[in-house]
Amino acid sequence: MALYSEKVMDHFMNPRNVGIIEDADGVGEVGNAKCGDIMKMYLKIDNDVITDVKFETFGCASAIASSSMATELIKGQKLEEAMTLTNKAVAEALDGLPDYKMHCSVLAEEAIRAAIEDYQKKK
Ligand code: FES
Repeated sequence: MALYSEKVMDHFMNPRNVGIIEDADGVGEVGNAKCGDIMKMYLKIDNDVITDVKFETFGCASAIASSSMATELIKGQKLEEAMTLTNKAVAEALDGLPDYKMHCSVLAEEAIRAAIEDYQKKK
C-alpha cells in the first residue's frame, strides 16, 4: 500500500490557499517542538464567518497536505464551527494519514484555533 493516499499527494503537490493575508483579522502560528515544523494560518473574518484563509507551512508533506485540506474545510464556516475542527476530521478528509504522521495534522487544528483566538483577543 502506498504510504500516502492520492488526496494527501494531491494537496501536498498542489496545496490550496498558500500564502499570506496582509490585513488578516486573525493570525495563528504553531510549531511542533519535536520535528521543528511550523504552520502559520491567516484568517479574514466577516460577521463571525471565515471569508478567506491562507497558510504558510514549513514542514513535512503531511503537514502541508493537512493545512491545505483544513483551509478548504473551514472556508465559509462560522467561527464556532471552525473551532471544533479536529485533526482527525482533517486526516479523514485526506482519506487517512499513516499513524506516525497523525501528529502533523494536529498542527492544522492548532493553527486554526490560535488564529481564531487571536481574532477574538483583538476584538
Ligand atoms: Fe513535523 Fe510532520 S513531521 S509536522
